[in-house]
Amino acid sequence: MQHEIHCRPLGLTYTCGEDETLLAAALRQGHIVPHSCSSGRCGTCKVRILEGDVERATPKDCALTPAEEAEGLALLCQSRAHSPVTLELNMIDETADIPVRRIMSRVHELERVASDVMRITLKLAEGDAVKFAAGQHVNVVLGASVRRCVSIANSPGQDGFVELHLKNYGGVLSTHVFEKLKAGDLIRMEGPLGIFAIRRSTERPIVFVASGTGFAPIKAMVEQLIHEGSRRPVAFYWAGRRPADLYMDELARSWEARAGLRYVPVLAQPLPEDQWQGKTGFVQDVIAQDFPDLSGHELYICGAPILIDSARKVLQERCGLRDFYTDEFKKS
Ligand code: FES
Repeated sequence: MQHEIHCRPLGLTYTCGEDETLLAAALRQGHIVPHSCSSGRCGTCKVRILEGDVERATPKDCALTPAEEAEGLALLCQSRAHSPVTLELNMIDETADIPVRRIMSRVHELERVASDVMRITLKLAEGDAVKFAAGQHVNVVLGASVRRCVSIANSPGQDGFVELHLKNYGGVLSTHVFEKLKAGDLIRMEGPLGIFAIRRSTERPIVFVASGTGFAPIKAMVEQLIHEGSRRPVAFYWAGRRPADLYMDELARSWEARAGLRYVPVLAQPLPEDQWQGKTGFVQDVIAQDFPDLSGHELYICGAPILIDSARKVLQERCGLRDFYTDEFKKS
């Protein structure tokens, strides 16, 4: 049975079957609504149910608290409709007017920036430019049915090119990239997608956190702030196990030439031969030590779900962080 879903104040209406989530139904019909993890943990898809009968699932580590559920909130990715539903959905201004489209490109350059990380520079079709907010991602389309989310690693304003960083997990896309892809090959994409973008309504200090190739969207955001001449104080923490995980460490160090920008590499398990002089341990503990009060900051984090969950817990409980924006790692 299909039910109508009305989204206020957007005026968006779509239909949802009882066997699919409110999020899945919206995406199936081409409506890119806020979401990230699709598993109930990040809270990006939180909405207020104004009318209707909605069944909410509450998986382990659910981002919806019992108090929020009692207040009428729900997660689109964990909710099913059993009647017509009216909900309040606030798109963020930074991405609301960016059209999602098909993008054709060719491989301009492939660079192995670590043994397991490929930096791919794509050249768009002649005269083309993609409008996106730094931090957003695209779906790379392989063949008829494979779609993989990959963050855009460059900032807007470099018209004609898109940069992606891909870690080799042995998946369909990364195997293709590491074993077959070559300069000149055609790459199809859809996007830009997602709401991982710097909020423009404030001038609050920013803490960026990345692990591994979670660096890609953070790189885009930092480069955008530098490009715009922003004066917002910025601290960037890049977490890895060994030095090689920080595959563009030199570039990140060069950002410190911008006044008010601090780069802090953090290694969880350096070995004696690494001769590591920097911070060690869990990145969230290092941040908590450096910023005992984060109540006036915004934090943007991209990495593995376990890192995001731990950082949320530590930094909200110990440092009073409220504005926590996430982008979960995409395995390709
Ligand atoms: Fe629903 Fe992350 S997309 S909680």
